[in-house]
Amino acid sequence: MVVTVPDPLAAPALRWGILGPGGIARRFAREIPAYTRSRIAAIGSRDRGRAEQLAESVRAAGGTAVKTYGSYEALVADPEVDVVYVSSPHSEHHDHAIMALEAGKPVLVEKAFALNADQAAAVFAVAKRQGLFAMEAMWSRFLPHYATMKAMVEAGELGEVRAVLGVHAQSLNLDPSFRLMNRSLGGGALLDLGIYPLSFFHSLLGVPDRIVATGSLTETGVDRRETVTCVYGDRFAVAYDDMAAAGDCSLQVVGTKGRFSVAEWFYTPNDVVFTPAGGEPQVLPTAVEGGFQFEAAEAARCIAAGQTESAVMPWAATLEVLAMCDEVRRQLGVTYPAEG
Ligand SMILES: NC(=O)c1ccc[n+]([C@@H]2O[C@H](COP(=O)([O-])OP(=O)(O)OC[C@H]3O[C@@H](n4cnc5c(N)ncnc54)[C@H](OP(=O)(O)O)[C@@H]3O)[C@@H](O)[C@H]2O)c1
Repeated sequence: MVVTVPDPLAAPALRWGILGPGGIARRFAREIPAYTRSRIAAIGSRDRGRAEQLAESVRAAGGTAVKTYGSYEALVADPEVDVVYVSSPHSEHHDHAIMALEAGKPVLVEKAFALNADQAAAVFAVAKRQGLFAMEAMWSRFLPHYATMKAMVEAGELGEVRAVLGVHAQSLNLDPSFRLMNRSLGGGALLDLGIYPLSFFHSLLGVPDRIVATGSLTETGVDRRETVTCVYGDRFAVAYDDMAAAGDCSLQVVGTKGRFSVAEWFYTPNDVVFTPAGGEPQVLPTAVEGGFQFEAAEAARCIAAGQTESAVMPWAATLEVLAMCDEVRRQLGVTYPAEG
């Protein structure tokens, strides 16, 4: 059973504005014109030269005219921008998303949607008041292998899910100036890496009864690594996140009648292996090219339909996953300056 997700090329065309032309914005700017009918219409940076650099690569790839701005305020005020992709660090998402919403623009906000659940609730309150779409760019939730695993679990093909095990460990550059090392920018393994297994657990099992987290911190005061056990009655979902170790980024969903496994990079487009109890492994061919087109297409469909939120990545899911992260950070003793 492979679930077919809506074709991104069939979604309405939007003119995207990119706020914050960093590493991930570069990927978004490449994949949206390549795999959807939408285009990158404008890029805003605190320094117009950086917006120009990204715009050049979009033009070189055959994209149409891209405007550039030397401030985010100018970007969100552009009447030829239909929707803003907020790709600044998590610490800035709250202010930047609200800036766009107040200017009348719907938003797709990178994960983690905000530093904590309270900040996310404040952004959604503005979206609600403005009657505008807002969504966390948790792209994995829209990928065919996630949709397939969720549908098969809901159809009972795994029996009762007993455990979910997710590894998100990458050996990253831990220079103290790096974003993930910086408390002021919402650094740490949890909000960049651990949010993927936690969001996956939440999509299958919902809000846990209890969370037990252990971990260690960097000299800059953010979480370097942690294990997070989410307890759901007598079922468990366990994450190991690490920004200083080269893990396989694997996933297992263990049920009474079978299991799923994704051997590597579980949160990226991938095939899934389904092994029924006592049976042979079956590869479900769910890998696709690109990846960001599915979330962008969902935003386009919802905006065209006048919806303020997505059924796949609803506001409640963002709030509940961030509340899980808040609890993990409370147990680890990680706080951010913006939290006082
Ligand atoms: N979906 C994914 O697979 C994925 C992967 C990686 C990261 N992300 C998420 O995307 C967001 C950005 O990550 P990234 O790796 O792209 O970061 P990055 O390379 O550091 O880029 C962030 C951009 O934000 C802008 N910015 C605005 N205020 C800033 C500030 N106070 N300090 C630093 N930069 C600031 C900067 O652009 P200007 O100064 O030019 O305006 C910068 O280029 C994060 O929330 C991260 O979790 C998602």
